[in-house]
Amino acid sequence: MSQLPPGPRMPRALQAVGWTQRSLPWLERCHRRYGDAFTLRILHWGDWVILADPDDVKKVFTAGDAVGVAVANPLLGPVLGPRSVMLLEEPQHMRRRKLMLPHFHGQAIAADAAMMSEVAQREVEGWPEGEPFALWPRMQEVTKEVVMRAVFGEDNGQLEELRRRLRRLTEWMNDPRNLAQLATLGPDRIVRSRGYREAMGPVEEAVIEEVRRRRAQPDPDRVGVVEMLVQSRHEDGSLLGEPELRDELLTLLTDGPTSTSLAWTLERLLRNPDKLERAREEALAGDDVTYLDAVIKETLRMRPPVPVVVRRLLEPMRLGGHELPAGTVVAPCIHLIHRDQRWYERPHEFLPERFLGRQPGTYTWIPFGGGVRRCLAASYAEMEMKRVLRAILTTVELRPASDRSERMRKSAISFSPDQSGLVIAEPRQTDPAGPRALAPA
Ligand code: HEM
Repeated sequence: MSQLPPGPRMPRALQAVGWTQRSLPWLERCHRRYGDAFTLRILHWGDWVILADPDDVKKVFTAGDAVGVAVANPLLGPVLGPRSVMLLEEPQHMRRRKLMLPHFHGQAIAADAAMMSEVAQREVEGWPEGEPFALWPRMQEVTKEVVMRAVFGEDNGQLEELRRRLRRLTEWMNDPRNLAQLATLGPDRIVRSRGYREAMGPVEEAVIEEVRRRRAQPDPDRVGVVEMLVQSRHEDGSLLGEPELRDELLTLLTDGPTSTSLAWTLERLLRNPDKLERAREEALAGDDVTYLDAVIKETLRMRPPVPVVVRRLLEPMRLGGHELPAGTVVAPCIHLIHRDQRWYERPHEFLPERFLGRQPGTYTWIPFGGGVRRCLAASYAEMEMKRVLRAILTTVELRPASDRSERMRKSAISFSPDQSGLVIAEPRQTDPAGPRALAPA
């Protein structure tokens, strides 16, 4: 007899449709009906025990070797590859994580801060004036460029082809038709599909070509992520192989959540003009980013780009009042915890003030997941968001292109605004140096 908590009894294929097409309302409905622990049984995904109680989430995030890898998004396996830090089991996972962590922490963040502002400033100055355009793709360009520079350093144009191919892969991954196909075909068949191979193959080729170039011409003055990876060795002294390098680099280069979070932050601010004004005043006044930081935290609470993280139990564990066997996939649910009035007053309102002078709870604010697999670039991403938002707020006046707040739409890696953040930009009129020109419409 199944020891898993109760959940919807619909056939797996229907649950797959529920999950891919209506994930968030479906999670909310199940939460209301079954409580803080329930089981979804989804075709191609398997059985997931969804956890919406922070005490259970804490148990999972602090369970050490008692939990291992599971994949929340079946597209991730094929895109990132099995040797990605995200998919490695212990102890390899921790070894790889320790190699990468310093490149997205402390001094590395400070060293990249000016570059983030510069990339954002250049992007904003190219925006059309006075006509609607979608913010999300623009934010994708910014975050892609930032990560390209973080990984490969400055380049003199030799990476243009890789940029172009990555753009194409992103388009493929964000096409809703491919998501629908994924729900019916499953990941194994979709990776054999022509569309996938045509989008992914050229990126892999370009990444490997660059790795070979760096190995053939090592530059002792460069200490970027790619240099670190091509020089890294296994325990037995052998260098990381090309397939491992491919997986690790694609894990970094396909970062989706930062661009989505940026688009959402602007969308939320534009629907709340008083908060927008406060954020802008702070940005114009100097280097203090206290309010902007609260705005980002509140956006990541209300619009977490990833609604669940998952783990596989390697030992039996009592969660949600149920004795779950080893092998169970459990899913701490970011979306449900962030919207729960037991942890947040007026959870459906955008109130950055709730984070002023108050640190978010370790197990009630979890947009970056938690435990030893918590996003290793969380601080990097928050700094990047601040830098990009400051560049935007101090350069242009934005207004929404329609009256309706945007809804959350599932895309390949994250939940994005359904109109992709449709806005109209004007140069900032109050700039003492006079308004800067944007690109002619
Ligand atoms: C707002 C931006 C971001 C959000 C919301 C986000 C969210 C997440 C989440 C939810 C996880 C899984 C955590 C878990 O399973 O507990 C994760 C893991 C990870 N993220 Fe991020 N992420 C962001 C930006 C980035 C960026 C910019 C990079 C790198 C360029 C990055 C690299 C990674 C890596 C390598 C992992 C795997 C960590 C491990 O398994 O040890 N993320 N992220």
